[in-house]
Amino acid sequence: MNYIVGMLTIVTLISDRGSNFEAIVKTAQNEQWPVRFAGVIANHLTAKGLDFARSQGIPTYVIEHLGHPTRESFDAALIEQIDALGADLVVLAGFMRILTPGFIRHFAGRLINIHPALLPAFPGLHTHKRALEAGVTEHGATVHFVTEGVDEGPIICQGTVPVHKDDDVEALAARVLAIEHQIYPRAVKWFLDGRLRIEGNQVKLQPPESQLFKL
Ligand code: GAR
Repeated sequence: MNYIVGMLTIVTLISDRGSNFEAIVKTAQNEQWPVRFAGVIANHLTAKGLDFARSQGIPTYVIEHLGHPTRESFDAALIEQIDALGADLVVLAGFMRILTPGFIRHFAGRLINIHPALLPAFPGLHTHKRALEAGVTEHGATVHFVTEGVDEGPIICQGTVPVHKDDDVEALAARVLAIEHQIYPRAVKWFLDGRLRIEGNQVKLQPPESQLFKL
């Protein structure tokens, strides 16, 4: 089989701040990745991350879910835009919508997400508050391929942070975000380098290196 090694195209979906997207773009710039950021799509006109995208000359698109009668029609509009941009990889970076099975199947194997917890612990929302309430001593973030279950799917890498006795939600969230900004660029780069192979519910990194990061 012939492999064409060239410039791959990333499309990113955000809902608001977009700091993970920013971390990925900055790492790509610093490390001179051969990659094209073809567009950022937000489901809110006011998503703050759109400003960073514009400042980098990355095309921005707003597809408001509220403008669509069903999840299916919203996702169909997303698919149309993402396909038009020629995405090799779709990066969910704080995209706070549940995606339909049809969307997930369409991008199977090239759709990744970051979740602010050490999955399978704390799927869903309010992860930092729930981690504090559970009294865990370690918390963190997970980058994973997206499959049809919410916050499931083969894990690409995880980053752990300690939980301190006097942490509140804000302090813990800030510590987790710092490790998110380290692990998401690494996961994206591994994908771009063709180093990720999905085997069942696991991701094999070739050649192997640690898929666990610590702050
Ligand atoms: C991040 O903490 C990310 O892990 C989380 O939203 C935040 C987005 O921040 N994602 C989820 O909760 C997805 N279920 P950002 O917009 O600054 O990247």
